[in-house]
Amino acid sequence: MAITIAQELDELRARSLYRKLRTLDSPQQTAVEIAGRKMVNFSSNDYLGLATEPILREAAKAAIDEYGVGSGASRLVCGTLKPHVRLEEKLAEFKRTEAALSFSSGYAAALGALGALCGRDDVIILDKLCHASLIDGAKLCGAAVRVFPHNHLGKLESHLQWAQENHPDARVVVVTESVFSMDGDWALLPEIIEIKDRYGALLLLDEAHAVGVIGQHGRGLADQLGLVGRVDIQMGTLSKALGVSGGYICGGRRLIELLINRARSFVYSTAPPPASAAAALAAIEFMLAPIGEQRRQTLRENLARFADEMPHLFKNGRKIMSAIIPIVLGPAEAAVEASQLLAEKGYFVPAIRYPTVARDAARLRVTISAKHSTKQIRSVCELLRNISA
Ligand SMILES: Cc1ncc(COP(=O)(O)O)c(C=O)c1O
Repeated sequence: MAITIAQELDELRARSLYRKLRTLDSPQQTAVEIAGRKMVNFSSNDYLGLATEPILREAAKAAIDEYGVGSGASRLVCGTLKPHVRLEEKLAEFKRTEAALSFSSGYAAALGALGALCGRDDVIILDKLCHASLIDGAKLCGAAVRVFPHNHLGKLESHLQWAQENHPDARVVVVTESVFSMDGDWALLPEIIEIKDRYGALLLLDEAHAVGVIGQHGRGLADQLGLVGRVDIQMGTLSKALGVSGGYICGGRRLIELLINRARSFVYSTAPPPASAAAALAAIEFMLAPIGEQRRQTLRENLARFADEMPHLFKNGRKIMSAIIPIVLGPAEAAVEASQLLAEKGYFVPAIRYPTVARDAARLRVTISAKHSTKQIRSVCELLRNISA
């Protein structure tokens, strides 16, 4: 007999893998209120504080006044609203590509792009630490999937050789993230590009956690390394440093044309609200303006402050590479206990457990924002030092 839903939930609780929603009584910012308690928030991907930025709020309000709150249907069915078009033109300019297409989320962008590019006769090769949206996109499209250990160039190359020998007519897509969402480190991008080029494969690079943080004007890792022209498909989300909601794919004009025709999460889904597109456009304009650079500079200073306070995390030449800092504790119970202890002291630092990370690699995931004060960073570090010493 199948186990009941209640038994399944009990099992999750017994393994410290049960998750529950916490309602915020405040906006998503560095100081939040949860169940009547004020907490300092080190859990958000809003690295620049744009989720509550007045310029973005105003852009969303103006779009609501002009266009209303809904988009009516899929853009292919009922026409495309101006805010989506303007956003995509700006995204293409920002990411220095020919064209761009926006989706209702980064998750939808991953599913849509991989499903449009690959089917049963194709091959997708992923880094083992790729985000669930990329894994799900690869699995759903029915392609042959191969996984290489994190940043393992030799294994990547042997998968490409295997694809060449066993699927000579396949479209082969290599998938990686520029900044890994649970580890904060970078893909070995120049090396991966050199290898995929030798095998004539395409590269999908998910810049979700790099945009806004890395590269000139926060354009991402490909831009920082001067490799934009050699990344075939740039994916990203509007929901992290850009502070809003939605996802995108940037690339060549033909790629975007194909996605408009074939990406099921685009074709068969109502367009995101025009207000989200307008706010995301304002976020990119913010990043391109001097205020964006100032905000990123503050983020860099906060990250340096965190690294100074936690030198034992950055030994043996290990550097702070992004706004994500994992503190790996091992068992799920240890991460949950540490997160609860911090919560009791007024700090919201999430425990990340299986299946988001490997079973024995549960961790605290600390994210730093430009909006954290020096005092907030120093005091969380004081507590974290006891946990991670
Ligand atoms: C690396 C990565 N890619 C994609 C996504 C999905 O983006 P979104 O939250 O916009 O669906 C996320 C966010 O959870 C992510 O961390």
